[in-house]
Amino acid sequence: MSRISVVTGANQGLGFALAEGLAHRAAPADVLYLTGRDAGRVADAAAAIGHDVVRPAVLDVADPHSVASFAEDLRERHGGVDVVLSNAAARLAPDVPWTEQVGPFVDTNNLGTSHVLRAFTPLLRPGGALLVVASSFGTLRHLPRHLHEHFAARSLDEVDATILAWRDAVLDGTASRRGWPDWINIPSKVGQVAAVRAVAGRRRDADTAAGTLIAAVCPGLVDTDASRPWFPDMSDASTPTEAAKPLLALALGARRPEHYGELVQFGRVLRWS
Ligand SMILES: NC(=O)c1ccc[n+]([C@@H]2O[C@H](COP(=O)([O-])OP(=O)(O)OC[C@H]3O[C@@H](n4cnc5c(N)ncnc54)[C@H](OP(=O)(O)O)[C@@H]3O)[C@@H](O)[C@H]2O)c1
Repeated sequence: MSRISVVTGANQGLGFALAEGLAHRAAPADVLYLTGRDAGRVADAAAAIGHDVVRPAVLDVADPHSVASFAEDLRERHGGVDVVLSNAAARLAPDVPWTEQVGPFVDTNNLGTSHVLRAFTPLLRPGGALLVVASSFGTLRHLPRHLHEHFAARSLDEVDATILAWRDAVLDGTASRRGWPDWINIPSKVGQVAAVRAVAGRRRDADTAAGTLIAAVCPGLVDTDASRPWFPDMSDASTPTEAAKPLLALALGARRPEHYGELVQFGRVLRWS
């Protein structure tokens, strides 16, 4: 059976390298959807890879209708999906107040992750993989203890509610008094990993029996236009192509039960708490 793959936010940065890596590992009958929010940018990126398996497609993860209708088309066309790499992310600018950035950031990075998980997990074929690109900041050790209970959520709706409450606290200026870290990337990444854990908690037995993997992943520091403004010294950063390799190995390689539902970096599980 041909392998059907989807990469979100794939027109540049790590997402592009993930799509390129999947294309290079594809068989002729495979199909890889290189997706992003702009038709011109995904077409250019697909042309830059220049491989027959690559199909550019518009998929705005912040728009639940865009995600649901894309997934429905996929189901009608292929019956299911084998690899979903949920990578899309809005950027943060160091010199713009959080109050101006947190809304669109949450819409894409958190609610977008939930939309992808809701739409694509039911389509995952046995042996498939859905990976959410998060970060090593996405563990509870980066939050004060009194906030941990908010992320013990057992459903995506609960995770979304926690994230929206935090977003509102940023907007009304009460977030730091409530103990939230100043850098909004941290609660957002914790929320992404919590979303994966909530979904995986409900599917663990069936998925592990079928060899299907749902996990969050940390690529380490990657040299992209998104990270450069935040880290003056990028000498330890990987190129996107290097950073993509362990993620692709996780998605396509042999399953290890300890990875299921966890945050994985370079093949190792980063402890949640
Ligand atoms: N770079 C690092 O050091 C690092 C470290 C840890 C984790 N990560 C994670 O790795 C992932 C990729 O990061 P990156 O550095 O490659 O970022 P990037 O260069 O900014 O790429 C992000 C991609 O997401 C797309 N995107 C933005 N909003 C979207 C939306 N609503 N719907 C669909 N696509 C959308 C962007 O498209 P446009 O071109 O249209 O904006 C772009 O293709 C992110 O999840 C990030 O948090 C990165």
